[in-house]
Amino acid sequence: MRQTIVAGNWKMNASKETVNTLVMGILSGMSDVDSKVIVCAPAPYLSQVEALITHSQLNLGAQDLNVNASGAFTGEISADMIKDFGAQYVIVGHSERRSLYFENNEVVARKVQVALDNGLTPLFCIGETLEQRESGNMESVVSAQIQAVIDLSGIGAFKDIIVAYEPVWAIGTGVTATPQQAQDAHAFIRLMLAKNDADVAQTTPILYGGSMNPGNAAELIGCEDIDGGLIGGASLKAQDFLQICKAG
Ligand code: PGA
Repeated sequence: MRQTIVAGNWKMNASKETVNTLVMGILSGMSDVDSKVIVCAPAPYLSQVEALITHSQLNLGAQDLNVNASGAFTGEISADMIKDFGAQYVIVGHSERRSLYFENNEVVARKVQVALDNGLTPLFCIGETLEQRESGNMESVVSAQIQAVIDLSGIGAFKDIIVAYEPVWAIGTGVTATPQQAQDAHAFIRLMLAKNDADVAQTTPILYGGSMNPGNAAELIGCEDIDGGLIGGASLKAQDFLQICKAG
């Protein structure tokens, strides 16, 4: 039985005040949440969130990391820095990083490996664009994204990876994949993992991301191969996020 995981990706949305209100709001409703809950804060707010969530069930993540341990990489943050603020998770290969910052499958795979080497759990994001889906290439795109990690790190690495399937056309658009579309993609991903290692495929959590909200979360998370969600917009409102956490 895989535990439901709900992760919030705040992206570049935060201020000291909103972080305080949001985290306190989430904490106030956590007592009846069974899912594992992670909030992925922008780097400048990791310290603030760390202090707010001490001794709570809430877990902390970052949104990206650099592959280098330290040095002359202006503007970047390392795995050690992320860990220094009590974060155990890091989003890797989000579609916005892939499209806006030109991270290809090889770069993303290296980031996954660096996260693992440093004891961080990567939330490894994959997914196809609308064009790729409409031209019938969803499976080949997603396969290549996963294969890059298998090639570099081996299938065993997926024991410590959380996969997030996020169709790019559903991210921030209000257009959610139907439960059937999402389940089909998740089943395909699990099958691909199973062809490499059946046990790993059964234990790897595969989250859905892309306009998940309190209205559609229960149906999506209820699908056999959907183990939770990676939530953007709806993770910025404590009550909406909590409702999704409780849907699992
Ligand atoms: P969204 O974002 O929930 O706003 O669609 C999801 C994501 O980008 O992780």
